[in-house]
Amino acid sequence: MKMTAANMDQKSKDKKRRPLPRLLEFQGIRRWGLEQYRRKVRRIYDGPAGHVLPWGSILSLHEPLVGHLLRAKKFDVSRFHDILDVGSGAGQILRHLLKVARPDARLVACDLSTQMLRRARQRLKSDRPEFITADITSLPFPDESFDCVTCGWVLEHLPDPRPGLAEMARVLRPGGSILILATEATLSGVIVSRTWKCRTYSRDELREACSDVGLTWREQMWFTRFHELFKMGGILVEATRCNGTTPTPASADRGGIEQDQDRQSRERDQEHGKANGPTLQPSSNGSKTDASPTTISTANP
Ligand SMILES: C[S@@+](CC[C@H](N)C(=O)[O-])C[C@H]1O[C@@H](n2cnc3c(N)ncnc32)[C@H](O)[C@@H]1O
Repeated sequence: MKMTAANMDQKSKDKKRRPLPRLLEFQGIRRWGLEQYRRKVRRIYDGPAGHVLPWGSILSLHEPLVGHLLRAKKFDVSRFHDILDVGSGAGQILRHLLKVARPDARLVACDLSTQMLRRARQRLKSDRPEFITADITSLPFPDESFDCVTCGWVLEHLPDPRPGLAEMARVLRPGGSILILATEATLSGVIVSRTWKCRTYSRDELREACSDVGLTWREQMWFTRFHELFKMGGILVEATRCNGTTPTPASADRGGIEQDQDRQSRERDQEHGKANGPTLQPSSNGSKTDASPTTISTANP
């Protein structure tokens, strides 16, 4: 990517901003093994915290602000036919997608927590989206099956974002777009990180991780002028999978990263006396998952 003066300025600002939030943010995500951490995340969202999440999203204004962003076509979803919402939660983004997407658009929602998807379906009362339980690092979809992916506040639940980004890049068609929303390494980000047991990102490292898997940052967006001035609303970015980029390098990288993470995770789990943790099963796309995808039927909660 061409480095402009503004980019370099942003880069040095990001580097300066990183240390304090990094020291203060939740550290368990880097200390625990990957599988152990994933189980904890699922438990958090399955439980009472997941139950109040939709209220939290309204009170923090995130849900209404995402609606405003989509209605104002700062990220114009009317361009797309096949839309995947990753880490849908209680359907905070999906609720707006239902309103702004083309009536013939296919909407698919996936989440690590089946319970969150149940909540989403009950809240949205729509039989239009398909709901599928799946991990972002092992999406049960063929290559190039969507022209749009939305991913709000999920990447902070990965110690390394690249396996998740690589999966989203894999299922995205060349020229397709991903809307990424992520917690920024600021002091308000630290509060989010400690509340939701997740990490934060600097713009610089997230941009670099995207580029590692063949995704280019097309445009950074802001909810409001206040957000832009004080960086109190997270990272919002449209990333595109470049035309002509084949999924192979991303998949190859993902394999390497995953193997590395799995090995580190096993070593850490063994250190903590959990040598006999859950066995990873190969999924249809060849990557690894500890849970086969579950489709939640719309008729049967
Ligand atoms: C903070 S909520 C975000 C919900 C919604 N996307 C929004 O914009 O408000 C994070 C969601 O990501 C899900 N999640 C966390 N780790 C995940 C993973 N590895 N794969 C898929 N979903 C994951 C959680 O279960 C939770 O529902």
